[in-house]
Amino acid sequence: MPRIDLRGLPIAITGASSGIGYATAIACARAGMPVAVSARRADRLNELVATITRDGGRAVAVPGDVAKPEDCRKLVDVTREAFGSVYAVFANAGYGIEKPVHETSDQELRDLFETNFWGSINLVRAALPHMIDAKRGHMLWCSSCVSKLGIPRMAAYSSSKAMQDHFARAMRVELAGSGIYSSSIHPIGTISEFSDTLKSRSGLKKRAFGRPDKGLFVQTSEQVADATVACLRKPRGEVWTSLPMHMLFALGVAIPSLADYLLMRRARKRDQQASSTI
Ligand SMILES: NC(=O)c1ccc[n+]([C@@H]2O[C@H](COP(=O)([O-])OP(=O)(O)OC[C@H]3O[C@@H](n4cnc5c(N)ncnc54)[C@H](OP(=O)(O)O)[C@@H]3O)[C@@H](O)[C@H]2O)c1
Repeated sequence: MPRIDLRGLPIAITGASSGIGYATAIACARAGMPVAVSARRADRLNELVATITRDGGRAVAVPGDVAKPEDCRKLVDVTREAFGSVYAVFANAGYGIEKPVHETSDQELRDLFETNFWGSINLVRAALPHMIDAKRGHMLWCSSCVSKLGIPRMAAYSSSKAMQDHFARAMRVELAGSGIYSSSIHPIGTISEFSDTLKSRSGLKKRAFGRPDKGLFVQTSEQVADATVACLRKPRGEVWTSLPMHMLFALGVAIPSLADYLLMRRARKRDQQASSTI
């Protein structure tokens, strides 16, 4: 397949006020895409728009909450009004909680799925009719490496990422040959506000199963952004930004008992470390 020239193709990005969404908005604008950016913090979006415009790009801020279908419809409408069409959407807004299932309330579960899962569906459903009319488009879903395994204390989060991944996969087969692509992005531990939000939402000082702040299995938001733009240029079903993590998770899927054993060992080690520091 020839590389797609992204210049002039508009994209709408949710969760653009920080981390992966922010970096992807900048990377898309540098590739020549007009960018509509959304999140709840309007001040951050306005700063982002100013940065992109100063560098010669085109951008518009559309503050909103992805859990509200009407906000996602507005994002798509404003993208089309400002730039003439919506070529791509990046369903990226999301957050995690880290708690054992029996300590997670119904409300916490529902809230997480409203943002991570329904937020993605709300965006994709708002944009898809326009892509079908145009006979071209690209839906990008910011899933996660953990979409492939149920992670202890992150059952809700990893399930929400699996739901995104399954929808992305089913839709790319449903839409095959239509000119519309659907891709799952599977970041590994990424430097962003994700960990701080997770800790405050979970009432934690330190994450039990979280990522380290640096090392082999940590990447920058810019690395995810570059991989996402590469996928827009040359569409692929799944984007993995770390080969070792991809192999590790593939092994975990192929041999569940091995994955369970390793996860249990890791959980025990963390519990021992936690009790020795009390
Ligand atoms: N960081 C990681 O280690 C990692 C790994 C794998 C996958 N991911 C995924 O990557 C995506 C981006 O995360 P990140 O790492 O960039 O974290 P982040 O820096 O915390 O960014 C999360 C973004 O989502 C937005 N958001 C959250 N709830 C929202 C809502 N209800 N409506 C609209 N926007 C909302 C936040 O903006 P406002 O608060 O301004 O609304 C923010 O812009 C998430 O889907 C996450 O699950 C992250």
